[in-house]
Amino acid sequence: MVDVLRIPVTAKMRLGWDDDNLTAPDLVRALEDAGIAGVFIHGRTREQGFSGSVNLAGIRKVVEAARTIPVIGNGDVTTPEAAVHMRSETGCAGVSVRTQVLMQTGVPPPEPGIEDRVRVMSRHPVPLPLAAGSVPPIYTKGGTLAYF
Ligand SMILES: Cc1cc2nc3c(=O)[nH]c(=O)nc-3n(C[C@H](O)[C@H](O)[C@H](O)COP(=O)(O)O)c2cc1C
Repeated sequence: MVDVLRIPVTAKMRLGWDDDNLTAPDLVRALEDAGIAGVFIHGRTREQGFSGSVNLAGIRKVVEAARTIPVIGNGDVTTPEAAVHMRSETGCAGVSVRTQVLMQTGVPPPEPGIEDRVRVMSRHPVPLPLAAGSVPPIYTKGGTLAYF
């Protein structure tokens, strides 16, 4: 994707499968080598799902593994204090919060206009069947198109 897209490509991932398999530090390096522009790291494992608390030490390891790209911390950032805590404990370049947190502020995210929607939609990665010229995009992107 990095090779074919003209926009920066970022990735979001979890710390790993479970506490015995924290693969994110290795993965961030591999992604960096592949030319990724930045990484968003959710500080839970796949096994955790959305339960338990976020592993800040685990996020720090990902931050330390990255050589040049920014690592954005994610998980349990529900207050400004939590954002500051996340940054100070992990050294992350920034934090990302889930949509519900934005809604709680009473200030909903701005609604994009039709021009912005079409612009973003037209830059959405083209699925492989479409690239091969075989399947119309509506079949593979139905859900995504509805989203826009
Ligand atoms: C119902 C639900 C839907 C989500 N959908 C997405 C999604 O589409 N893309 C994504 O990157 N993360 C998604 N997430 C993950 C959140 O963005 C976030 O990474 C995760 O909830 C950790 O943050 P938190 O501890 O503040 O909840 C979703 C989480 C929930 C609970």
